[in-house]
Amino acid sequence: MKKILDLITAEMKTAFADSGYDEIYAKVTLSNRPDLCEYQCNGAMAAAKAYKKKPFDIASEVVSKLAGSHVFASVDVVMPGFINLKIDAGYLAEYMNGMAGDDRCGCDMAKEPMTIVVDYGGANVAKPLHVGHLRSAVIGESLKRMGRFLGHNMIGDVHLGDWGLQMGLIIEELKDRKPDLPYFDESFEGEYPKEAPFTIGELEEIYPAASLKSKEDESFSKRAHDATLKLQNGYRPYRAIWEHIIHVSVADLKMNYGSLNVTFELWKGESDAEPYIPKVIKELTEKGLAYESQGALVVDIASEGDSKELPPCIIRKSDGAALYSTSDLGTIIEREKDIRPDWYIYVTDKRQELHFVQVFRVAKKAGFVSADKKMSHLAFGTMNGKDGKPFKTRDGGVLRLETLISDISQAAYEKIMENRSVSEDEARETSKIVGMAALKYGDLSNQAAKDYIFDMDRFVSFEGNTGPYILYTIVRIKSILAKYQTLEDKYQGAETILPPSSDAEKDLMLQLSKYNEVTESAFLELAPHKICQYVYELANAFNRFYHETKIISEENKEQQASWIGLLRLAKDVLNGCIGVLGIEAPERM
Ligand code: ARG
Repeated sequence: MKKILDLITAEMKTAFADSGYDEIYAKVTLSNRPDLCEYQCNGAMAAAKAYKKKPFDIASEVVSKLAGSHVFASVDVVMPGFINLKIDAGYLAEYMNGMAGDDRCGCDMAKEPMTIVVDYGGANVAKPLHVGHLRSAVIGESLKRMGRFLGHNMIGDVHLGDWGLQMGLIIEELKDRKPDLPYFDESFEGEYPKEAPFTIGELEEIYPAASLKSKEDESFSKRAHDATLKLQNGYRPYRAIWEHIIHVSVADLKMNYGSLNVTFELWKGESDAEPYIPKVIKELTEKGLAYESQGALVVDIASEGDSKELPPCIIRKSDGAALYSTSDLGTIIEREKDIRPDWYIYVTDKRQELHFVQVFRVAKKAGFVSADKKMSHLAFGTMNGKDGKPFKTRDGGVLRLETLISDISQAAYEKIMENRSVSEDEARETSKIVGMAALKYGDLSNQAAKDYIFDMDRFVSFEGNTGPYILYTIVRIKSILAKYQTLEDKYQGAETILPPSSDAEKDLMLQLSKYNEVTESAFLELAPHKICQYVYELANAFNRFYHETKIISEENKEQQASWIGLLRLAKDVLNGCIGVLGIEAPERM
């Protein structure tokens, strides 16, 4: 469906053209004085300069052309030349019926669908997940769903950190602990065991132990570096251990991401970029972009108009090792070959900002991607604890996703039990859904670039701008609809939505009418928080309407059916919004 602002602007354009003024002045926006009007057009001010007339006179002429308009209930000119608009109630109801009759509630599919890679999650194999990985998963999943809803071909890649020093650390620590394994017997020529020589539990313990050891023991640290290099050069026994590490970790990661309802189309990692690294180096050198600097190979990326001086991108260290940037450049070559994305979106914390500026610029300079390729880095802030420092779990340790999820589910459980409307068993089940919503909404409702405070009490509250509040609103609508279903004297005709009968009802309709505009702009701006803001305002508008309106006892059955139609639409739009946030609503709570 056309967006309501576009429809109103089109009406305005006709009036400007009919008065002999250019249509470009006819742009309508939401009113910034909702007490006076719903929409406004400020074009007469700009037109006044071009036509050398008083803005008030231009506005008055335009307004006189709108006398018979079916779009507006009132059109007023205010000094010096603002045009204040109120939408016609019948016209708004017609728009609602259009939305209600459409299974996408008025949201069109993209006319030119793009293939979009979203690189998110980014866990490092065998290293503990940290809050940054949690944020990346939650934000990336939401972007992917937002894009998919609009009809884009969204491909999520978890892009594991699976090729770094942690591998050598684990190998050497394993050697110290279990020297008799065949991987450490150089004369061994048989098949290596299918079974991994460790469980995920051991692995989680091995890495921190090895990491600590390498800080205290230089020779161990050297061994780990050498083992990493050997692995990267394809040494068979270490490849075999590496495969075990990947296998065991990926199974665990799939479970962790799965419990967040986060899934990936691709389970690729830094190791997949390996075969492309020689090409990266070769092309950058041949094109004269890479040069030696203090033994390292670097590419300049500074460009005119930069607000600060940007350091060159290092693509090979003096010891010959490739770096994070080299790996990302290799991955771009691979993706161009296999996927040819129209848009690359990377979701990581903002400490990686410079890294992505460097990678994007080098990729474009080298022609790995076209110069006008859309490449975005969604750089997010830190999730802090109440002490203002990066979030830690209760025992002060690193984040364990299971612990976080079970803590927040427990808090949600206590809230649900306060309501006493469901049994204990049901509350247990429901608290998982509600806890997840609390966690994700608590994150997504903040502008991603900002740091935010993880505040469990606030996140699980049923009031305010929280996930549970939104779910509670949906549950409330479901319960009214169920009650309506049991009435015997329902209206026999269609549930046609009638013009609003109160300010609260009109306001609800106005909120609903913004849906298609919001889903589109929030995605293009990579801004899930705009969906949250919208869904919160919509829930507020619904609740105001609900408190003022006795729906189930209404005697005018046609009016009642209209409200039910409006409720169904509100429920569908609310569900659509939380769906793209990666949240679902329970039946009761
Ligand atoms: N593994 C990285 C980290 O933990 C994130 C990877 C992000 N993706 C990428 N293509 N660089 O910080």
